[in-house]
This record gives sequence, structure tokens and C-alpha cells, in this order.
Amino acid sequence: MDITYDMFIETEVPKDELIISRTDLKGIITYANETFAKISGYTPDELIGKPHSILRHPDMPKRVFTDLWETIKNGKIWRGYVKNLRKDKGYYWVYAEVSGVYKDGKLVEYKSMRSFVPKEKRIQMQKIYDEMRLEDKEKIREVSYISYDVYYKMVSKAKEENIEPTKWLENLIKNL
Ligand SMILES: Cc1cc2nc3c(=O)[nH]c(=O)nc-3n(C[C@H](O)[C@H](O)[C@H](O)COP(=O)(O)O)c2cc1C
Repeated sequence: MDITYDMFIETEVPKDELIISRTDLKGIITYANETFAKISGYTPDELIGKPHSILRHPDMPKRVFTDLWETIKNGKIWRGYVKNLRKDKGYYWVYAEVSGVYKDGKLVEYKSMRSFVPKEKRIQMQKIYDEMRLEDKEKIREVSYISYDVYYKMVSKAKEENIEPTKWLENLIKNL
């Protein structure tokens, strides 16, 4: 089995801010607020006109999004936890509420409001989604967490030795 290692930085959504977006009926982003841009690492202009799956993180099970689309197409509100991919390949967790926007009783677009997730919940959801991906025979990764302090120490060691941080981590683990 081929094992690869990588390091990613987590961004936390501020507790008092909301990430807001709207999409057309196909999931193409039509509106993004400043918080959305700040947390995802894109500018609003880069987000508008792109499919919402631009944020799709490889750790998210496919069935979560199948359920999301079924729910909102049936006129209901979908609520759940989502791990999203930042432009710089880092990630952020959100608690999301996604639903339809109706005009004169007709579905015209979708909207989403996303907020902060406590750390314990993020760790729990990572485990739950890993299990789902395993059950569904999707590719999985084992995730472990290190503090920023340790991360920056590792990155500066790698710099001193003039190698990529990921390669440095791989060598460290292989030589354990
Ligand atoms: C209003 C709205 C908000 C969405 N927000 C996200 C999101 O934050 N992250 C995400 O990965 N998918 C989000 N989706 C779902 C995506 O459209 C897409 O289904 C998902 O990223 C999976 O990609 P795929 O359908 O190409 O497999 C959202 C959809 C809608 C309608």
C-alpha cells in the first residue's frame, strides 16, 4: 500500500461571524459575504460564478452531499457539519444550514449560512466521516492533530535542512 503524508493548517471560523452564500439551482455561487471570502482564502470575485464544490474537501463522504441535495430539492432545510477546503489547501469546519429561496412559492435559488464548530465536535465529525468513507469504500486518510507550535518548529527544521516540510515529515515517520 502506498502511504503519503501531508500537513494542513486549520482555520477557525470566528464564533461571532457567519459565512453566507447563495447559489443558483445548479449550485453555482451567486453571492459570497466577506467572512466566506476571508475564511476560504478566496476573494468574493473568485468565488462568484464557481460551483460550490470548489470548496469540496477530499475527507467529506459523497453521501453527505447526496443527502444535502435530496433534502433541499424536497423543500427542506439541510443541517450538518462540513469540512471545507481552503484555496491554500488548508481546511475549516462549519455547521451549515442550507435551504431553498422561494419567490411566489417557486424555488428560485439556494442559500447557506455557516458557523463555528467546537473543537471536540470537529474531531468527532472527522471520525464519523472517516468511518462513512471506509464503509462506502472511498479513499481514506488517517488524520492526526499537532499544535501550531509543533507545526512551525517542523516547518523551520525543514527549511534549515532545505527540504519540503511534507518530505521532512515523511522522512521523520519512515525513520521512527
Ligand atoms: C447553497 C449551497 C451551499 C453549499 N455549500 C457547500 C460547502 O460549503 N461545501 C461543499 O463542499 N459543498 C457545498 N455545497 C454542495 C456542493 O454543491 C456539491 O454538491 C459538493 O461540494 C460535492 O461536490 P460534487 O457534487 O461535485 O461531488 C453547497 C450547495 C449549496 C446548494
